[in-house]
Amino acid sequence: MSSDLMPPLNASFPGDDLFDWYDTHGRDLPWRHRWPALAPVYHLWLSEIMLQQTIVKTVIPYFLEFTGRWPTIEALAAAPVDEVLAAWAGLGYYARARNLHKTAQIIAAEHGGIFPADQKALLGLPGIGPYTASAIMVMGYGQPGVVVDGNIERVMSRFFAIKTPLPKAKRDIAAAYEQCRPTARPSDFPQALMDFANAVCTPKAPACGICPLANACRGYADDMAEQLPFKAPKQQKPTRSGVAFVAINQNGEAFLERRPDQGLLGGMVAFPSVGWTQTDWSDADVQAADSAAPFPADWRQLSAPVHHIFTHFALEMTIYYAETNRSSLGTNTGWWQVPEPSQLPSLMRKVWKQVETSKHLQARPKKP
Ligand code: ADE
Repeated sequence: MSSDLMPPLNASFPGDDLFDWYDTHGRDLPWRHRWPALAPVYHLWLSEIMLQQTIVKTVIPYFLEFTGRWPTIEALAAAPVDEVLAAWAGLGYYARARNLHKTAQIIAAEHGGIFPADQKALLGLPGIGPYTASAIMVMGYGQPGVVVDGNIERVMSRFFAIKTPLPKAKRDIAAAYEQCRPTARPSDFPQALMDFANAVCTPKAPACGICPLANACRGYADDMAEQLPFKAPKQQKPTRSGVAFVAINQNGEAFLERRPDQGLLGGMVAFPSVGWTQTDWSDADVQAADSAAPFPADWRQLSAPVHHIFTHFALEMTIYYAETNRSSLGTNTGWWQVPEPSQLPSLMRKVWKQVETSKHLQARPKKP
């Protein structure tokens, strides 16, 4: 334990006050519909996978859609993967949806539809890492354990005034959590902390004035709650660039492809694109684009690219647009269809929106 950790870990965390707060102010989330009983583990797992890198408000309609369409894990396992991917569109990181489907199939086929109540076995399932395995054990099965997400990191680092910057502080924070963890209500404890972090111990302007834990909070006593947790400076994400080709025919249909299963946006419907490399395509000349385009057409560059942030890089996507009178093509790589934004990944939705708003205004004339 770091010497930066104050107060000493035997300081008592007012768990009862937290539960009192939770019993009044806890969120009525759809995966908690049986509360105070435990959530069905299927629901708990589904919500946790959806909540990875996505906020609760965004997840709720997706959770309701999934559980309405696939009320059991067996139903999800039996669904065509394309349907699952399409229903996932907008939540990002399609590998997560593929892993979700694979895990559903494993649980249905090999575990009788019931998640193993065993941390090690859970870790062997696609898409389940240490955090999610612990979340299932603790919030799904009510077992003792440490569940620390970014929200809980904030509460712990403030309460104990942990000054070690993240991510180095993770060990101290896990130890602090272990120290605070009550034996009663194991499933409610992390969920109470998450709701509390969302409503009171917020990243900016925490509501220390009405905080039920403030009297015992070291960060508050030291007048530094809002600054915590400290974070190591972020490495700047490298920028990559690519070109998307949007062709539209006389029926208003666009040429679409399915991306290869492996790699970014794997298996998703997309406009043809090239690049995603370090090359600066935004200054590429039209001839270069012509040679990379999926078929010859009067390709024109829209003046504004779109920007999208992936986990490991930022992408600048230049858009080439063409009007064509094709409606069928001598290639089996794609098809013509009026784009349905809800079926497109976010990046391609942005591309489509850009085309719709700027195709008439901004297409640059072809260079001589
Ligand atoms: N974030 C991750 N899991 C959550 C849960 N069960 N409740 C609220 N927020 C969460």
